[in-house]
Amino acid sequence: MAAKIIAACNAKGGTGKTTVVINLAATLAIQHSKRVLAIDLDSQGNLGIGFGLDPRQIDLTTYHLLNAPKAHIEEYVQQVRPKIDLIPNAINTRLENAIDVLPNRDSLLKRKLRLVQDDYDYVIIDTPPAMRTPTMNAIVVADEILVIVDCGYFALYGLTDLMTQIADAQTAHDKENLVIRGLLNLYNKGQVLDNEIHDQVVNFFGPLMLSTVIHKNVRLAEATSHHQPIIEYDRTAHGTLDFLKLTKELLDEHQDDQDEAAQTRTHARRNH
Ligand SMILES: Nc1ncnc2c1ncn2[C@@H]1O[C@H](COP(=O)(O)OP(=O)(O)O)[C@@H](O)[C@H]1O
Ligand SMILES: [Mg+2]
Repeated sequence: MAAKIIAACNAKGGTGKTTVVINLAATLAIQHSKRVLAIDLDSQGNLGIGFGLDPRQIDLTTYHLLNAPKAHIEEYVQQVRPKIDLIPNAINTRLENAIDVLPNRDSLLKRKLRLVQDDYDYVIIDTPPAMRTPTMNAIVVADEILVIVDCGYFALYGLTDLMTQIADAQTAHDKENLVIRGLLNLYNKGQVLDNEIHDQVVNFFGPLMLSTVIHKNVRLAEATSHHQPIIEYDRTAHGTLDFLKLTKELLDEHQDDQDEAAQTRTHARRNH
């Protein structure tokens, strides 16, 4: 079966997209034995750094892959943990700009991924803090978008525009089945402002909101600076528990979707 493809998005920086991709990928692989491919579409290259890669020593990045029509995706994939493969990225403004003028520029990743999609259970994509071509590539290929919202004062700023852009991409690329979920990060229960923002974000996303929230936990930042996902760095940290909960919630949702699809198929056969 083809992998489920999940992209973490928000045009705002610092909301925790990279942190979520690192730790969701790791929890799926380490706790649930899923085969995971993580892809970095952000030229900052933080995703690879989080798993211990040095972006200065990487020749084959996501942007090289997208710019080379004949390139084989397998050559760009590096194994970073027993069940985790990664396509890293690094700063290269020339290549980033070159993608903008390619034909079908928003579907470049989709074409490449087709060849390896059956080798994984999950593909998890990190995106830059801008709704430009790299992020559009993630939206076009994704089955599911996680909109990562931080608990800052400007949390809701830009979300309406983001949702409009996602909706436009859905229409343009026939993606009526795209699932969009809201995830709140950097939440601090003791703060009045955080609780206000929590309520506003829940209100904004309604039923699309994930019930798991990722609390602010300094161990998460420490783990990344030690080039490790938190489940490896500190198994008992609050951050680990939050990511176990998030991963379980997503897996349960996906299982429900599969059950529903199977029921629909059985129903269709019976009525045939
Ligand atoms: N839940 C959290 N608790 C503590 N620090 C966090 C948390 N989420 C993210 N951070 C830290 O906040 C900063 C921004 O997170 P990052 O994942 O890089 O955001 P983005 O990819 O959206 O720019 C990083 O230093 C990261 O370690
Ligand atoms: Mg990032």
